[in-house]
Order: sequence, then C-alpha cells, then structure tokens
Amino acid sequence: MIETAPTARLLVTGGAGFIGSCYVRDVLARRDGTRITVLDKLTYAGNRANLAAVEADAEQAARFAFVRGDIADPEAVGPLVGDADAVVNFAAESHVDRSILDPAAFLRTGIDGVHVLLEAVRREAERASSGVRARPPRLLQVSTDEVYGSVEEGFSLEGDALAPRSPYAAAKAAGELLARSYHVTYGLDVVVTRGSNTYGPYHHPEKLIPLFVTNALDDRPLPLYGDGMQVRDWLYVADHAAAVDHVLRRGVSGEVYNVPGSHHVPNRDVVAQLLAYLGKPWSLVRFVEDRPGHDRRYAMDGAKLAQLGWSNRVAFADGLAATIDWFRANEAWWRTARSGDWDAYYERQYAGRLANTDAAAGAQPVAEPVAAPVDVAPGSAPADAGA
Ligand code: NAD
Ligand code: DAU
Repeated sequence: MIETAPTARLLVTGGAGFIGSCYVRDVLARRDGTRITVLDKLTYAGNRANLAAVEADAEQAARFAFVRGDIADPEAVGPLVGDADAVVNFAAESHVDRSILDPAAFLRTGIDGVHVLLEAVRREAERASSGVRARPPRLLQVSTDEVYGSVEEGFSLEGDALAPRSPYAAAKAAGELLARSYHVTYGLDVVVTRGSNTYGPYHHPEKLIPLFVTNALDDRPLPLYGDGMQVRDWLYVADHAAAVDHVLRRGVSGEVYNVPGSHHVPNRDVVAQLLAYLGKPWSLVRFVEDRPGHDRRYAMDGAKLAQLGWSNRVAFADGLAATIDWFRANEAWWRTARSGDWDAYYERQYAGRLANTDAAAGAQPVAEPVAAPVDVAPGSAPADAGA
C-alpha cells in the first residue's frame, strides 16, 4: 500500500515558468485547501503573468504567495523549505539550444541550485528527527527524458543507464543523481519524474511548437533542423503537471517515474500538422543546419507510472488545437515573451542558419499531416491509441 505524502503546504520552485505555472494554476483551482508558495528567479523564461489567473481569484490568491529569488541562494531557500510539507522543483534553464550557446547558467541552477534545495530539505529532516517538526519535507525533482540520451529504438526504462548528450541534459542528469544520492545517503524523501516533450499554452516561443506557431502567424520562416526526422513524444502540459502531482502524492520514496507523452512523431510531421491547422503554407519551412549533437529520438516506457495509477488524458490533435487557439488568442503574451533579449538570441541562433536558405531550395513535400502515432510506448496514454 502506497502512503500518500502530506502536501498541504507546497513550495513550488520555478512556478512562474511553462510547466510549473500550469501545475500551480491546476492545483489551486481544485480548491482543496492546498497552499502554494512559488519561488522563482524570473529569468527571461519566468513570467508572473502566467500566474495572473491565480492572483485574480480571491480564494486562490489567499492560498498563494510569490517570492522572487534563486534556488541557488540558501538564504532565500532555507525559510521557505522550513514552512513546506513538500518541495516541487521545476526551476531550471530549460532550452537545449541556449545550453549549447552558454552552458554556465544551466550548471548553476541544475546542480548548485538542486544542491541548495537538498541541503535545506536535509536540515528540515534533522529538525523532524529531533521533534521540532512533525515530518521531513518530500522533494520532487522534475527531470527529463533527455537524461537517457538519444534512443534509436525501443523504450527507456527507469533503470536504464543515463547518457545525456547536451549541457542541458547533463545538468538535469546531475541534478537528479544528486537528489537520489541524498535519499540513499541521508534518507531524504525524494522522488523524481522524467517528463517527455511538453507543449501547451504559456510555452515559451523559443521552443519548436510555439516558435513555429508564432513565426507562422507572422508569415516568417520556420527553421527546421537537419532533415526534420527527429522523433519526440509529445505530452500536453496539463497531463505533465497532473503526473507530477500524482507522483508527489503517491510515488514511492527514492523512485524515478517516466512520464511519457501520447504521440511519437517526427518533427517534420508536427510542423505539417500545425501549418495545416493554421491554414499556412509548407513553403514557410526552411531546412537549416542541424543542432550540434542533436538527439535523434526519445521514447520512454510508461508502465511504472501507469501502475501507480496515472495515464494521460489529452490526445495530441486536441492538445495541439487548444495550444494554437491559445496562441492566437494571446498575442500580447507571446509578443512580450519575444522581447528583451529575444532579438539578440534569435540573431545568434538563427541568422546564420537562415542566411542561405529559401523555400524552393529547402522545401520537401509533405502531403498530409500525420494524425496517428508512429508508435506507442507501453503504459503511455490511451488518448491517441485508437486514432
Ligand atoms: P521554463 O524555462 O518555462 O521555466 C523555468 C522556470 O524556472 C522559469 O520560471 C524561471 O524563471 C525559473 N528559474 C530558472 N532558474 C531559476 C533559479 N535559479 N531559481 C529560481 N527559479 C529559476 O521551463 P519548463 O519548460 O516549464 O520546464 C520546467 C521543468 O521541467 C524544468 O526542470 C525542465 O528541465 C523540466 N522538463 C521540461 C520539459 C519540457 O518539454 N518543457 C520536459 C521534461 C522536463
Ligand atoms: O524531451 C524533453 C525536453 O523537451 C525538455 O527536457 C526540454 O526542457 C524541452 O526544451 C524539450 O527539449 P527539445 O530540445 O526536444 O525541445 P525543442 O522544442 O527545443 O525542440 C524540439 C525538436 O525540434 C528538436 O528535435 C529540435 C527541433 N527544433 C527545435 C527548434 C527550437 C527545430 O527543428 N527547429 C527549432 O528552431
């Protein structure tokens, strides 16, 4: 029988980002009394507007607090962990391309930041064992399928060797290994989730789906890396957030849980599908120089999470339509996200790649968008299975 961890007071780090803010909105919207404090550095990827719905609702706002701060700062972290039953750590630098341009921030947040959180949890565990608090806090470390590296065939199991291939993925692997080492060495209550490629509303426009949707809305070129045949397994953001919550409440201490998506598909077909929904032409696509060390395929086995009682709810076609509708309706949000350092980043990442391409040279015909999954992992969502 799995014990349910106490979760009345949550500290959600990175809760102003894409997945973290979905988690906060969804948990508070249940109106079950849960209190949440968000600790977020508000990097270029963090946005308080992602939490506006919570702050506009008096009942939810009364159970919510926001602290701007860094998970690598022990002074900020210590008292907040002291007040929490559980810590859910979403905070990270999350974009692979930026990790290739500039790895330092990835290591600072992904390794030093996780270390600071773990030390704070360890101190609280000591206070619990000396009777100062009732129970030690649980820490859920949000990790990624990228820690397995490129999986040419089959489906990754939680016990498989880790083989990260980008600075982002290596920092994420280091963070979760550190977390698990604190479970083994100090007996801390730690669980880890490894999520797959997540998409949905509030997704920062640096990532494939929101970048291509927002560029297409502006009739700008869509820079598709390499041959566009890299396979990702797409997971709707509300499903990812709900799976994290399920593992937080039900996961066995010390264990890792894969969180696969519902739809394994090559990038090229995702792009064809989103262009079809937008009513925009394939001629916007440019095949450009590949990402260095580009992982060809991610695919995870989800049987362990299914056994814990969780399965996804949102089919890819529905999630993609909802996402595109959201971006259409929230132009001010994504134009703000494409401000600040955006132009400098875009120039650095794409100007050279786009310089010598044109639609005629780069286009490849894709007759019909792919609607059915290429393959389905054991235990992954039934949502698309019959599509
Ligand atoms: P995101 O970039 O949208 O959000 C990250 C948030 O963390 C931002 O609000 C940012 O301000 C905050 N942050 C960054 N450094 C911080 C620091 N030092 N201290 C406090 N806050 C800090 O990322 P996301 O896509 O929402 O991803 C959230 C988590 O999920 C990350 O750990 C990521 O590795 C993991 N993950 C993401 C995906 C995906 O497809 N997006 C899939 C699997 C796992
Ligand atoms: O798999 C989980 C991971 O998914 C998370 O851990 C990361 O935080 C998240 O960013 C995501 O990583 P990816 O590198 O898979 O996502 P991204 O959206 O950057 O790219 C998806 C695919 O699209 C990948 O094969 C690269 C390709 N791509 C991406 C961009 C931004 C392009 O072809 N062109 C682009 O301009």
